[in-house]
Amino acid sequence: MPGGTRAPQHVAGGTAAAVLHHNGTWLESPPSGPPGTRRPIATAADIGPPEKRVPMRIAAYLAHPRPGSFNHAVFDAVVDELRQHGCRVRAHDLYAEGFDPLLTASETETVQPLGAAADADGNTDPALERHRAQVAEADALVFVHPNWWGMPPAVLTGWVQRVLVPGVAYKLAAAEGEPAGLLSADRALVLNTSDTPAEREEREFNDPLDSVWRACVLPYTGITDVRRTVFRTVTDADAARRSDWLRQARALAAALLD
Ligand SMILES: Cc1cc2nc3c(=O)[nH]c(=O)nc-3n(C[C@H](O)[C@H](O)[C@H](O)COP(=O)(O)O)c2cc1C
Repeated sequence: MPGGTRAPQHVAGGTAAAVLHHNGTWLESPPSGPPGTRRPIATAADIGPPEKRVPMRIAAYLAHPRPGSFNHAVFDAVVDELRQHGCRVRAHDLYAEGFDPLLTASETETVQPLGAAADADGNTDPALERHRAQVAEADALVFVHPNWWGMPPAVLTGWVQRVLVPGVAYKLAAAEGEPAGLLSADRALVLNTSDTPAEREEREFNDPLDSVWRACVLPYTGITDVRRTVFRTVTDADAARRSDWLRQARALAAALLD
C-alpha cells in the first residue's frame, strides 16, 4: 500500500510557515502581513451575544516526520488561517516536539480515571499532563496526517492512546458499557493525505482512516461533528494542485468556526 518512491517537496502555497509556532503555546494574535494584505474576516469572537465573545480554543496536531512535507504545508496553512480568524490555537508538531507514543504499564486502564501521568518508577510526565489538559479544554480539534498502511503514523496513534484516557476524554461505568464523552470540544477537522484513488480506497480497503476517526475515536470522546477530507494523490501532484489543496484546507479550517 505505501506509495511510490518519488516524493517531491511541497511547493509553498503562500503560507506563513516561518512565523508559526508549533510548540503547543496558545497564540492569540494573528501573524501580521504587509499593510492591506489581511482579509476582512469575521472572527470566532464575533459569533454569539457579547457576553459569549471569547476566542475559540483549538488544539491542532500534526503527525509527519519530514519538514517540508505536504502535510507540514497543510498544517501551517490551517493553523495560520485559524489564528487569522482570532482563534487561540495550540499547535503541536508531534514529531518535532518528540512526543513519546509508548504507553507505560500503568496506562492500560480503561475504566478507572488515570491519575497523574507517570512512568514505572513513578516519575510524572509533565508534557503528557499538558497534552491531556489542553485537549480537555479545547473547543475544537484538528488532526493533519498521511495515510500510512491505512493507519495514522505511530506517533499519533500513541498520542490517542496516551492522551485520550479515562477521566480526560471519556468515562466508562463498566468495561462493556457505553462511554460518556468528556471533552469540551464538539467538533473536529481531520485532514489526510494519501496516494490511493478514492474509489479504490473504498472498494479494496473500506477507508480505514474514516472508521478510525469518525467511528472509533472521536465519538468516544463526545465529538460527533467530524469533518474529514482526504487530499490525493499527493506524491505525484504538481505545484498548482498542491496550492489548490492548501486553499481548500484554509476554507475547511475557516468553516470549522461556523
Ligand atoms: C509507510 C508508508 C505507508 C503508506 N501507506 C499508504 C496507504 O496505505 N495508502 C495510501 O494511499 N498511501 C500510503 N502511503 C503514501 C502516503 O500516504 C503519501 O506518501 C503521503 O500522503 C504524501 O504526503 P507527504 O508528501 O506529506 O508525505 C504510505 C506512505 C508511507 C511512507
